[in-house]
Amino acid sequence: MRVMVLSGANLGRLGRREPAVYGSRDYNDLVAACQEQAAELGLVVDCRQTDDEATMLAWLHEAADTEAAVVLNPGAWSHYSYALRDAAAEVRGPLVEVHLSQTHAREAFRHHSVISAVAAGTITGLGFDSYLLALRAIAARRPRDGA
Ligand code: DQA
Repeated sequence: MRVMVLSGANLGRLGRREPAVYGSRDYNDLVAACQEQAAELGLVVDCRQTDDEATMLAWLHEAADTEAAVVLNPGAWSHYSYALRDAAAEVRGPLVEVHLSQTHAREAFRHHSVISAVAAGTITGLGFDSYLLALRAIAARRPRDGA
């Protein structure tokens, strides 16, 4: 089962960006952790990061067209991008929204995600484990042979 692990704006800055909030491990460490978890679960992951909203939209269209599952950390787009929300709504793979930080304990503008209503679930505040638990949730939902 193919899973696209998509990280949005500023997530390539992990390790340097606000380490008190996002930790000291970098984006490559996140990719390695996802690959290791995926291998344990028998999933194939395709990890990508972009700061360009149009690129993220194209990746979500690709996920919809190929019926891939998605782990999506939309970064700040979570809080205002209706375009991303509409693209995420097309993904049936399923799509799990994740956040590294506990957005509900931060500034008020981070308390609402326009993506959550179209996500199968949302995992927030658990650092890298947010991504790894999302992979577990996707593996648990995978259709069984013959089902
Ligand atoms: C984030 C939370 C967002 O509010 C923020 O804009 C990010 C990262 C997280 O993973 O905690 O860029 O999505």
